[in-house]
Amino acid sequence: MARLARALLMASGLLLAAGRPAAAQNQTQGEGLHSLMVAAGKLYFGTAMDTGNFNDPAYMAIVTNKSEFGMFTPENSMKWQVTEPQLDKFSFTQADEVAQKVKSNGQMLRCHTLVWYSQLPTFVANGSWTPATLSAVMTAHITNVVTHYAGQCYAWDVVNEALNEDGTFRQSVFFQTLGSAFIPLAFRAAAAADPRAKLYYNDFNLETTPAKTAGALRIVQLLQSNKTRIDGVGFQAHLAVNHTPPRTSLAATLRRFTALGLEVAYTELDVAQTALPESAAALAQQARDYVAVVGSCLDVPRCVGVTVWQFTDKFSWVPAAFPGRGEACLFASDYSRKPAYDALVALLRGRRLR
Ligand SMILES: *[C@@H]1O[C@H](CO)[C@@H](O)[C@H](O)[C@H]1NC(C)=O
Ligand SMILES: *[C@@H]1O[C@H](CO)[C@@H](O)[C@H](O)[C@H]1NC(C)=O
Ligand SMILES: *[C@@H]1O[C@H](CO)[C@@H](O)[C@H](O)[C@H]1NC(C)=O
Ligand SMILES: *[C@@H]1O[C@H](CO)[C@@H](O)[C@H](O)[C@H]1NC(C)=O
Repeated sequence: MARLARALLMASGLLLAAGRPAAAQNQTQGEGLHSLMVAAGKLYFGTAMDTGNFNDPAYMAIVTNKSEFGMFTPENSMKWQVTEPQLDKFSFTQADEVAQKVKSNGQMLRCHTLVWYSQLPTFVANGSWTPATLSAVMTAHITNVVTHYAGQCYAWDVVNEALNEDGTFRQSVFFQTLGSAFIPLAFRAAAAADPRAKLYYNDFNLETTPAKTAGALRIVQLLQSNKTRIDGVGFQAHLAVNHTPPRTSLAATLRRFTALGLEVAYTELDVAQTALPESAAALAQQARDYVAVVGSCLDVPRCVGVTVWQFTDKFSWVPAAFPGRGEACLFASDYSRKPAYDALVALLRGRRLR
């Protein structure tokens, strides 16, 4: 499996892009999360980060350590609001800084995201569109952004969060104007602009909410019946302590997608505490919940990796988005490692294939 994982990396050109196959061997040294994931046969352990983190030396010492992290998702800087704030005015300065940092350190990039209802520029969110004008603007956006990063992205989250909790389509500007056809249209434009990047549908609560999971399966089938390439489904896994499904159920959900020929990944994992400050028991439960999620990825051969949505509580989005919740990450705000970190290391050490 580890050999297969490396072969896949080779095939996708990432090692060539990184310039030296020896870098991959270095990634497997040490006892950090990424090197242990690779030793367990997966492609990566990753984290979200962005330019706002670059001036924090303690943060940078950890993210540039290839033993800890091998994959990065720009938290905000590739979103439409940033890359095309005004019609036809593209701006890659911020996202390029992230891409450069990752590339110079021989690490990989998950690119995020092309078509999403949120963090849109005003001209898209509040424009008056016809199907023809919106499909032209959406296609041009995808073509420009994906072409700019062609060869640098392990994967693109092409469409993000298209579903309501009941599995119906969210009433986004894209769905309201184009119906479900916006999805194949987006994937086709991305495939044309970068044939090597894996193309993902990405959403939250697919781990916990059966009606929404069914909606995501319908999206996959819509694309496949349309002869449009989709390579993977991203499970965001924004979870909460004591509300995380057991490992076996998580793995069973992943397998419903791999059965359709796709790879899967956890793309935005965090496990929020619901009462703060948390008790010792809640810290221990958080560790078990992280183990359930990462363990389910180990249990499913075509689960390629896990990305956390920031690794330190210092930069977690949770407290601002969900007042009263927080402390969701593997490292505390002072960069000390929490029980969940130690539990993942123990889990992964036990699964070493070589
Ligand atoms: C791998 O690690 C060794 C020892 O830390 C270092 O000397 C070497 O330059 C690294 N090679 C690559 C390709 O990163
Ligand atoms: C990188 O991380 C690993 C795992 O935590 C650790 O053993 C190693 O000392 C770190 N390397 C540096 C240079 O900090
Ligand atoms: C769109 O217009 C509404 C109403 O004026 C406003 O609240 C919202 O912030 C606008 N959206 C964007 C993305 O500019
Ligand atoms: C497939 O998707 C494309 C792009 O949205 C659309 O033009 C076409 O009508 C779809 N074909 C079918 C058979 O649904």
